[in-house]
Order: sequence, then C-alpha cells, then structure tokens
Amino acid sequence: MGDGKKFGCSFSYEVQESPNGLAEAFIIGEDFIGDDKVALILGDNIFYGTGLSDLLQQNNDPKGGIIYAYHVHDPERYGVVEFNERGKAMSIEEKPENPKSNYAVPGICFYGNSVIEIAKNITPSKRGELEITDINKAYLKAGKLQVSVLDKGTAWLDTGTFKSLMQASQFVQVIEERQGLKIGAIEEAAYKMGFINKSQFIEAVKPLTKSGYGKHLMRLLAE
Ligand code: G1P
Repeated sequence: MGDGKKFGCSFSYEVQESPNGLAEAFIIGEDFIGDDKVALILGDNIFYGTGLSDLLQQNNDPKGGIIYAYHVHDPERYGVVEFNERGKAMSIEEKPENPKSNYAVPGICFYGNSVIEIAKNITPSKRGELEITDINKAYLKAGKLQVSVLDKGTAWLDTGTFKSLMQASQFVQVIEERQGLKIGAIEEAAYKMGFINKSQFIEAVKPLTKSGYGKHLMRLLAE
C-alpha cells in the first residue's frame, strides 16, 4: 500500500507495540486524528455488498458514534447489541457467554472527535484490552450511539480464525469465479472513484500484469 500515492490517497501508519485492544488506536492515533472525526476499520473484516459504499458515505459525519449490527449464528465471538421491540439499542456486551441477541458488531465504526477522550478514560477489560465495546457503551449511555442493522444482502466476513479465513476465501473465490470480476481491487476502486486518472491507473497496474489480478485490471480498460 505504501504511502497511497499510486491510489491517489495519502496513507500513514502507526504501530501498536502490543495487543492492548482496538480502542488504543484512538490514543496511538491522536495526532493523526487531530480535530477531525474518525473511522475505525478492522483489517481482518471483509465487507461486500450492493449499496454498502453509499451507506458508509452517508454515515461519515457522526455526532457521537455510528456502528452497525449484523445477524450471525455465533454472536458470542463478538460485541453483541441488544435491541428493544422498537429497534432501539439497549445494551452492548463484549463476547457474552449468554448473548442477548444474534446481532454482532462488525469492525467498522465512525466516531466524532470525542472518541479520543473516551478512549483515554476507559480501563482494560478482563482480557487486558481497551475494548471498542466500552467506547460504544459510553456513547450508548450518553444517548449518542447510532446502531444500524446491516442488510442481510451484505456479506460481513471475518478472517480472525482458521475456519473463518477459509470460509471468507471460499466466498471470495466463488463470487470472483462466477462473475469474472475481482473483490477488493484497490486500483480499480481508486480509478472508478476518480482518485486517479487513466495514465496513473496504467502506471499502478504495470508491475502486476503478469498475474491474473493484473490481467483483470488491464481488461477493465478495454471494457
Ligand atoms: C473485536 C471487537 C468486537 C467486534 C469484533 C468484530 O473482536 O472486540 O466487539 O465485534 O472485533 O470483528 P476481536 O477481534 O478483538 O475478537
């Protein structure tokens, strides 16, 4: 990914020296965030589906926190949201033994700048981590958490275990082979979003043309 220039973006990185929890990102990233709002996306989560891009772009101006909920069969592996009969979020628990619902919190969240102060004020959980769930609970308590249920036509896959990595690979393989398209082609996305022009696209793809991935990207130009 480098500095992102070839995708018309600017990327910078910080290292979390030890696994102290997701919420530490807002402390490590404090200078990066500055006075801005911020998105947190987990590297081991895969999102795929129609309308997802529009949904995420609509939600990019959080007053407090914006998170999602997704129906899964094994909620105990995740942060779990409980809704009342009117669909209002009532509680969030991290990896509960007895989940109050099947709605798990996927690893994509949007927060206002206050998230930095909230992260600094939470304490590590039993597993020794600053939990993103504790951040979400703070916003929920303050009445500033928006929880939207992700449409079941959206695929949320997680790759955090051998089994889930295998399942995600199978999903991606089946869709890509059936459609003859690629999921998660960053050069393609940058071009279609207008971040880079045609000659920048060709420049980015050139080193990849010996692979099937690069050949797919070059075919896009012909289409
Ligand atoms: C983390 C969060 C959890 C969330 C999950 C999404 O779990 O703690 O609330 O539902 O990501 O992937 P972890 O990856 O630490 O097990």
